Amino acid sequence: MEKIKVILDCDPGHDDAVAVLMAGKHPAIELLGITVVAGNQSLPKTVTNALNVCQHVGIDVPVYAGSTRPLVQQPRYAGFIHGTSGLDGPQFEPLTKKAEATHAVNFIIKTLLNSEGDITLVPTGPLTNIALAMRLEPRIIPKIKQIVLMGGSVGQGNVTPAAEFNILADGEAAKIVFECGRPIVMCGLDVTRKVRCYQEVIDRMNQIGNKASYLFKEMMEFYNKTQKEAFKWEGGPLHDPVTIAYLIDPSVLTLQHCHVDIEIRSEQSYGRTNCDLVGFLKKEENAYVATDIDVDKFWDIIEECLKLYN
Ligand code: BDR
Ligand code: CA
Repeated sequence: MEKIKVILDCDPGHDDAVAVLMAGKHPAIELLGITVVAGNQSLPKTVTNALNVCQHVGIDVPVYAGSTRPLVQQPRYAGFIHGTSGLDGPQFEPLTKKAEATHAVNFIIKTLLNSEGDITLVPTGPLTNIALAMRLEPRIIPKIKQIVLMGGSVGQGNVTPAAEFNILADGEAAKIVFECGRPIVMCGLDVTRKVRCYQEVIDRMNQIGNKASYLFKEMMEFYNKTQKEAFKWEGGPLHDPVTIAYLIDPSVLTLQHCHVDIEIRSEQSYGRTNCDLVGFLKKEENAYVATDIDVDKFWDIIEECLKLYN
C-alpha cells in the first residue's frame, strides 16, 4: 500500500498532540515534517510542545518553526483550554530534540516544489503558515494533492457564536487557503464536537499501557478539566485528530461538497465559515465539509494508532 505523504501543520495544543501521535507511527502515513504555527499559545511554546511530544514517544520527524503571528489580526491564544504552556498536564524529560533551522514556510514550499503532486497538507491550527507559503510561492498550489484541515463550523463557533478558533485566529489566512482551488476537506466543530473524550475513553486507552497511551491519559485529564470549565461538558472534543483519522480511514466521515466562504469583514461574525450546503449562492464548490462522523470507528482508529508505540 502506498503511504499518504503528509505535512502536519499544527499548534500543540492537547488535541494537536494527539494528531501528532496518530500520524507519527501509522503505516498508512509518511510524515514528512511537522510545521508549527502560533495559535493555542505563542510560537516558542507550540514548538517546544511539538518537540516534547516527539521526543517523549520517539517520533523521529523534523520539526520546523513557522509564523509567530497571524497575517493581519493581533495574536489570540487559547490558554483557557490548553494552559499557560499550551500543553499543560504532562511532565516531559529535559528537551534535547531541536527544531530545524529552516523556517516552516520555506520547508513547505521546498517540499511541495520538489514533489510529484502527492503531498497532503494537514493544518490543525490557524492557517498562517499555509497561506504565507501560497503567497510567497504560488507555484506550490497545483502541487498540493489535498488539504485536510481542522477548522470552522457549519453551526455555531467555539470562541464567538460565529467562529471556530483556528479560523477566527487568522481569518485572512483561512480566506487565502479556502480560495486556493485545491481539494479541501473541512473537519469542523459539527463533527469534532461529536468525538468527546469521556473518562471511559481515557480508561480504554490507558489500558494499552505504553508511553503514548499514558501521555494521552495525562493530556486528556487536563484538557477535560478546562473543557468542563469553559463549556460545562464532560469529555473534551478531540478536534484535530479527526483529520488524521480521516486519512487513515476516509469512511469515518460523511462529507458534503459545497461552497465555503470565510467571513473577514464583519465585526460580529469575523472568522465564520459560511458553508452553503443548500447551494443558495450557486457558487462553485471549494470544500468537502464533514457533516457526520462514525464515533465508534474514530475511537478504534485512535486505539490502533496508540498501540503502535512501545
Ligand atoms: C481548535 O482550536 C484549538 O484550540 C484546537 O487545538 C483545535 O485545533 C478547535 O477549535
Ligand atoms: Ca490545534
